[in-house]
Amino acid sequence: MKILALIGSPRKEGNTDILVDAVLSGAKANGHHGEKLYLYDLNLLPCIDCRNCKNGDMVCTRDDDMRDIYPKIEGADVILFGTPLYWYGPSGPMKLLMDRLLPYSETGMLKGKRAVLVIPSAEGADACEPVVTMFRLSLDYLGVDIAEVLLPTAYEKGEISSNTEEIERARGIGAAL
Ligand SMILES: Cc1cc2nc3c(=O)[nH]c(=O)nc-3n(C[C@H](O)[C@H](O)[C@H](O)COP(=O)(O)O)c2cc1C
Repeated sequence: MKILALIGSPRKEGNTDILVDAVLSGAKANGHHGEKLYLYDLNLLPCIDCRNCKNGDMVCTRDDDMRDIYPKIEGADVILFGTPLYWYGPSGPMKLLMDRLLPYSETGMLKGKRAVLVIPSAEGADACEPVVTMFRLSLDYLGVDIAEVLLPTAYEKGEISSNTEEIERARGIGAAL
């Protein structure tokens, strides 16, 4: 099984990154394949509602790094969305990526895939309700089932690594995929 982890935090070795690593290590221990992409390292243009993805080939015609990401998304069995909570929503690049999933509302190519959400925040799980709803409604629309949601509390860079309970939970999620 292939897992594509999309990391929407600018902090390498930050809380999102550490938790995603834990999920992937659990998955890899069970023989699955994982790949991480740091969205802040990529050139991602915003959706401009040109509707090109609703006509003809039904593909996005924006010329940026999504051209490499689309095939990876299509080839994955599980898509892991990892983002810190930024003002009760996802980080900017993660929202940008979500908008760019619009072609799949026409093609239905994501139907049957599974998703995992990893969203650390200073305030904890209750504060993540709006962002989880955003992911749930959007992914539902695309036919993607959310398999697991991890919403740990952490603020400082790397703080989550001392929370063995959450790290074990993350590993368990990966192992159970
Ligand atoms: C611009 C910005 C907005 C934030 N907004 C929230 C918020 O609304 N609620 C919250 O609990 N934490 C908020 N945080 C804190 C981060 O979610 C938290 O530090 C998280 O652990 C960072 O994860 P990372 O280490 O993977 O980047 C915000 C941080 C930044 C930089």
